[in-house]
Amino acid sequence: MAAKELVFSGVQPTGNLHLGNYLGAIVNFVKLQDTHNCIYCVVDLHAITVWQDPAELTRTIREVTAAFIASGIDPKKHIVFNQSQVSEHAELAWVFNCVARLGWLNRMTQFKEKAGKDRENASVGLYAYPNLMAADILVYRATHVPVGEDQKQHLELARDIAQKFNNDFSDSIRAHDFGEKFFPMPEPLITGPATRVMSLRDGTKKMSKSDPSDYSRINLTDDADSIAQKVRKAKTDPEPLPSEEEGLKNRPEADNLVGIYAALSGQSRPDVLREFGGGQFSGFKSTLVDLAVSKLGPIGAEMKKLTQDTAYVDAVLADGADRARVIASETMNAVKDIVGLIRKK
Ligand code: AMP
Ligand code: TRP
Repeated sequence: MAAKELVFSGVQPTGNLHLGNYLGAIVNFVKLQDTHNCIYCVVDLHAITVWQDPAELTRTIREVTAAFIASGIDPKKHIVFNQSQVSEHAELAWVFNCVARLGWLNRMTQFKEKAGKDRENASVGLYAYPNLMAADILVYRATHVPVGEDQKQHLELARDIAQKFNNDFSDSIRAHDFGEKFFPMPEPLITGPATRVMSLRDGTKKMSKSDPSDYSRINLTDDADSIAQKVRKAKTDPEPLPSEEEGLKNRPEADNLVGIYAALSGQSRPDVLREFGGGQFSGFKSTLVDLAVSKLGPIGAEMKKLTQDTAYVDAVLADGADRARVIASETMNAVKDIVGLIRKK
């Protein structure tokens, strides 16, 4: 294990966890456990940047935690917790509100998408959200961040914030013996054949928790019948599957299903096309149903079992938060010293 490398990532407890979250993020979280120390966070403070029903929020915080564990994340070897239990995230985010520039945030495409036309009515939190995300990562001085493609811009902002902090306070960082740079530049890890899983109803839109059509996504808690129905109804085109990747151009729905198959089976996309090229979608879809049910069925079942045991899930989160806080408070104390704030020593 590289001594100083540390992995951090977060998932919002909002709505239904789906195949996009699983293949774009969680599968990579699981893999990285073998090579790195990892911190995986249920980012509840991010969730409340848009309205959340309180009882439902409590339920979904536990559900995302259950999804982490059911997918194979080990909360004893690594750290699993919910963001709001470690107040240093919000504290560092305030300092970053004062480092990041309005012009930087104005470029964020996710804010524009989420705020929509009625921007005046969006919460201030939704606008400042990328600063909190930077704080999540940098409060642990994490070096690697596994995410889906849609988070790339936010990661770039986190790097800009780290760099500006290091520059603005360079004298003080040196004076306090923290070396040349206090924060590392966190690197995005956007890997695998499914970094952007698309809607099953429209291959040009990403699969999303908030799509009004449940047929657009496969939820981790879907049973075998729903998975089968959704895959069979997934939009396709009339042509047979191509034998080479070139043939997927301008066929977003076909491209998406091939990517999903590759990711679930652990094969490359060319391998999948070699096997199914020239065949009709109906046969391919049947095999995909069996594959999806065999991979997701056990995870959904384990999630259901775990979410019944709220005492266990809450204990995992409390234990993870205790261990996270040790690292986060050390960073926050150093940041206070660097910025010139007085703290009890
Ligand atoms: P969120 O649900 O927005 O908190 O996303 C949690 C993680 O899942 C992030 O790393 C996202 O980039 C990833 N993710 C969300 N939707 C998709 C998708 N359709 N395809 C691939 N990754 C996704
Ligand atoms: N913004 C991310 C999303 O919507 C979730 C997130 C919050 C996150 N803080 C993070 C991801 C820190 C990686 C690292 O998916």
